[in-house]
Amino acid sequence: MSLPNRKFPELDHVEQEHMEFVTQMLQQQISSAQGKIPFSEYMNMALHAPECGYYNSGCRKIGEGGDFITAPELGSLFGACVANQCNEALHQLSGGSILELGAGSGALCAQILERLSKVDCPLETYYILETSGDLRQRQQEFIRSTCVNADKVFWLDNLDDFSLHGIVIANEVFDALPVDRFEVGIEGFSFLDVEVIGSNFEWVKTFHKATNHGIDKIIDRYGLTEGYCSEYCPSASALLRTLSTILQCGYCLFVDYGYSGSEYYHPQRNDGTLRCHFKHLAHNDPLIFPGLQDITAHVDMTALAETAIASDLDLIGFIDQANFLVNAGLMDELLDLNLSVEAQMSLSNEIKRLTLPSQMGEVFKVLALGKSVEHGLSAFRNGNRIHSLQLQEA
Ligand SMILES: C[S@@+](CC[C@H](N)C(=O)[O-])C[C@H]1O[C@@H](n2cnc3c(N)ncnc32)[C@H](O)[C@@H]1O
Repeated sequence: MSLPNRKFPELDHVEQEHMEFVTQMLQQQISSAQGKIPFSEYMNMALHAPECGYYNSGCRKIGEGGDFITAPELGSLFGACVANQCNEALHQLSGGSILELGAGSGALCAQILERLSKVDCPLETYYILETSGDLRQRQQEFIRSTCVNADKVFWLDNLDDFSLHGIVIANEVFDALPVDRFEVGIEGFSFLDVEVIGSNFEWVKTFHKATNHGIDKIIDRYGLTEGYCSEYCPSASALLRTLSTILQCGYCLFVDYGYSGSEYYHPQRNDGTLRCHFKHLAHNDPLIFPGLQDITAHVDMTALAETAIASDLDLIGFIDQANFLVNAGLMDELLDLNLSVEAQMSLSNEIKRLTLPSQMGEVFKVLALGKSVEHGLSAFRNGNRIHSLQLQEA
């Protein structure tokens, strides 16, 4: 496969071989599907194919030495604040368990267990559901060798026959779910599928004839006009429905970069939200470096909230990350008077990255859902922006 003109880091021969392998696998899939596949299928294989998809390959993905950094990788403040909310929820519920989806390096789990070990928290079990075999192994090594209360952590293979009394947490998981890409036409829309031209992957339009697809509803609702391109994530709804089935009583806290529907499908955002990360270089071409780069799409928080409500979950709150963290006790973390000047500087840098609007503070949002709960969570008491979701009845 030929590489684009722009300046990307050089590939070593292991990376080159890995990319060739994933490229061949995708090309075979496309050829056996009469020459094109939906982008969601391409994204799913490029990210999640067993053994060789981006999340399953052995390379380091998350953190300073990887491709991108998430909030728990910056330090322990994010984890401490999420732990405070877990503690509050588990006290309200008179005890219960945590289920973390997509635990990455295991950093968030370690930080939460550390914090909960210092307070009187009625935590029973910390479950992790991780789709990547490689990351699951890394989490197990990291958590078992470094964590307090590591014996409370169990990895689930799937959510079949599972039920939870407690809290589900997920940081940057919904943005990794496969999306379909579409372009609005004079009538209806076309899917932007993926085909092979020469040795490259290219976009190809497939006109969608039937009406009343979820994308038709989005076009009508947000008044999208001819030529507008964006994404749509059907698998987010499926995951939410599963979570609603397993959650008997408790909360869900989802943190992700995303927008309300009207911001997501804003007329000016007419080329969608796809973002790729390769060695800390962000760009928007998902059809290069298959298997070597992360591919993400922002999350339509309105769609997530409406599906949650339709799936028997209650909407508890929607807030930006900065307000969430401050309400959840971020500033209390600075009150430790024994900190050295260096430690205080490092904490204040971490706070800036987590909360400044130009960094993670505004584009990252937290959606809280509940099932059979009487109280809300204190992290949503100031700055709750549920109204901005502009929810419609089903
Ligand atoms: C962007 S990483 C975020 C990792 C971690 N939560 C963090 O904040 O550092 C996405 C994570 O979600 C996992 N993942 C993707 N799809 C998933 C799914 N359907 N269920 C559970 N985990 C999933 C990936 O393997 C990876 O661990």
